[in-house]
Amino acid sequence: DDFEGHGVWRYADALPFDSGVTIQEGATPLYEVPSLEDDIGVEALRIKHEGMNPTGSFKDRGMTVGVRVATELGVDRLACASTGNTSAALAAYGSRGGIETLVLLPAGKVAAGKIAQASLHGARILEVDGNFDACLDIVQELAGQGEAYLLNSLNPFRLEGQKTIGLEILEGFLADYDTVPDRIVLPVGNAGNTSALYKAFRELVQAGELAEGDVPKLTGVQAEGAAPMVEAIENGADEVMRWEEVETRATAIRIGNPVNAPKALPGIRETGGTAVAVSDEEITEAQRDVAGEGIGVEPASAASIAGLRKLRREGIVGDDERVACLTTGHLLKDPDAAAAAGADPESVPNDLDGVLEHLSE
Ligand code: F0G
Repeated sequence: DDFEGHGVWRYADALPFDSGVTIQEGATPLYEVPSLEDDIGVEALRIKHEGMNPTGSFKDRGMTVGVRVATELGVDRLACASTGNTSAALAAYGSRGGIETLVLLPAGKVAAGKIAQASLHGARILEVDGNFDACLDIVQELAGQGEAYLLNSLNPFRLEGQKTIGLEILEGFLADYDTVPDRIVLPVGNAGNTSALYKAFRELVQAGELAEGDVPKLTGVQAEGAAPMVEAIENGADEVMRWEEVETRATAIRIGNPVNAPKALPGIRETGGTAVAVSDEEITEAQRDVAGEGIGVEPASAASIAGLRKLRREGIVGDDERVACLTTGHLLKDPDAAAAAGADPESVPNDLDGVLEHLSE
């Protein structure tokens, strides 16, 4: 049972293999969010919720391909640096594929759910006294010395799998609106998804299946405290300058050196998209907004909605646009952030009258 022809693997024609090491990834919902659509004020808004993947983030789409490659190569150890989700996915897909996994995490900066996943799926977890970018520097060196096979988004096979996010969004819009979206808004960390979606769309254009002018505007969102891509876009720069100091509540995108920037910058520019930074407060507000539609996302994911709201307010996004927002990870990934953003539990006595009295207060 290799999940052949389903989820990510429905797009095998666009992938380097027909099947992978699978836990049934992909085929995620493209939710309607009518209240938010009205409130933000666009022609159409859909949320592509990647939190609905097996380990709760889009990373699974990359790992099903990446770990398949590792089994072909016969490597005996997989490794990644991670703000959390990559480590959770690598641990799960590595154990599924029967390969040992090693993950390097920034100490004290990874959400509880993600560490729990990496731990239970049996990864060896190294907590580094430094940020994600430092972890990635180290793990690249380890891989270079033959200690492990690298499965960060620097690995091009990861991005092959992540192309299917873009393909599913286009198919969903075509089915429901008879047209592809004008814009796709997504959170940016290492800019892997931005690069992967751009590659997917270029391949469709080359194959004559998508008109050049119909490629959705790729629009990246970063947290204000970790916004090197936004800085490069605003300055019209050819390269992204690494930020040594980064901070945000959206720990998944607490990244100062977006390693896929050389592929992602042209993707944003050539599709007519843009990049925008949002505050932690705006991120939390957006997390509540999405939760109000019944959809639970982690802070980094909510950045896409916060970014769309800001761009709409500034008039950069028009009211006639059809937009897809990518939400990259599930609410339960970061239970502390969710609890802090939500309502507090109330203490009541252990009897009906006491509860009724409390409710009438
Ligand atoms: N959203 C979430 C929830 C993420 O976990 C990540 C990246 C991103 C967005 C950014 O995606 O790199 O394609 O721009 N998380 C990596 C990790 C860094 O280690 O889990 P990108």
